[in-house]
Amino acid sequence: MITLPKVETLKPKSQPHNFFIWGETMSGKSYFASYFPNPLILNTDGNSEQGQAPSIQIRNERDQNGKLTHSAIQQLDDIIVALQNQKGSEDQQFKTVVVDVIDDICVMIEQAICLENGVQSLADIAYGKGYAMFNAALQQFVMDLKALPMNVIYISREISITDEDTNRTTFKQSLKDKYYNIVNGNCDLVIRTSKIGQGQNITYMREVKAVRTKYDPENITDKRVLQLLESCQGMFTKDQMEKLKKGDK
Ligand SMILES: Nc1ncnc2c1ncn2[C@@H]1O[C@H](COP(=O)(O)OP(=O)(O)OP(=O)(O)O)[C@@H](O)[C@H]1O
Ligand SMILES: [Mg+2]
Repeated sequence: MITLPKVETLKPKSQPHNFFIWGETMSGKSYFASYFPNPLILNTDGNSEQGQAPSIQIRNERDQNGKLTHSAIQQLDDIIVALQNQKGSEDQQFKTVVVDVIDDICVMIEQAICLENGVQSLADIAYGKGYAMFNAALQQFVMDLKALPMNVIYISREISITDEDTNRTTFKQSLKDKYYNIVNGNCDLVIRTSKIGQGQNITYMREVKAVRTKYDPENITDKRVLQLLESCQGMFTKDQMEKLKKGDK
C-alpha cells in the first residue's frame, strides 16, 4: 500500500532548471545558453560548428525515395535515453540540454508525422488525429526533458506585432502560442535577450519576462548558473543582489 506524506507545511528551496529564452537574431541567445554547465546543444539550423559547445544536429533522415528512415521524434527519443543513462565522472556528464531552436523542432515533429502518414499537412489526417499526435509528441518530449536531472533551455526567435490602430509595436517569442503554452507550462523562467548599439558598441541585454516563483540566490547551488542569472535584469531584487555582493567579499 502507498504511504502518504505527512500533513505539514514545507519550505521548498526552489531553484530554476527549465528556461525559455527568446530574442531577436544575434542578440546572444545561443551565447548565453552555451555558458550553462556542461551543455549539449540540440541544433536545428545547421550552424552547430560555430558554437563551442558539443552539439547534435536534429533532422528527419530520409532515403533516396524520400521515405523516412530515422525521424526527428525517434532521434530526440534516442538522445533522451542516452542522457538518462549517462555514465562516467561528474565533469564528463552533460548537465544542460539546449534546444536551439524549439520552433524548428516543432516543424520537424510535424513533418515526421506527415511523412509517416503520407500526407502533406496535419490537417489531412482525419478527425484531428494529426494535431493530437503532434501535441502528444511535443508534450512527451518536453516532459521527458523535464524529468532529466539537468537544466533544460528552449530557445526561440522573436517576432514583432504592430497594432494597426495604435501603431504600437510589441515583441514576443516566434514559437506559436499554442506550442509555447505546452513548452512554457514546464518552464521556470522566461528570459528575453536583446542588443543595443552597433558594431563595436553593442551592449547585450537579458531581462526576465516571467518567473514561476521568487527565487532566492542562496538556494541556487550551481555557482555558474547563479552568475548567469545575476546577469539577467529583474531576476533578483536589489537587496538580494547587495547581499550576494557582500557575501562575495
Ligand atoms: N553577452 C555577450 N557578450 C559578448 N558577445 C556576445 C554576447 N552575447 C552575444 N555575443 C556575440 O554576439 C553574436 C551573436 O550571438 P548568438 O549567436 O548567441 O545570437 P543568437 O541570438 O543565438 O542569434 P540567432 O538567432 O541568429 O541564432 C556572437 O558572435 C556572440 O559571440
Ligand atoms: Mg543562436
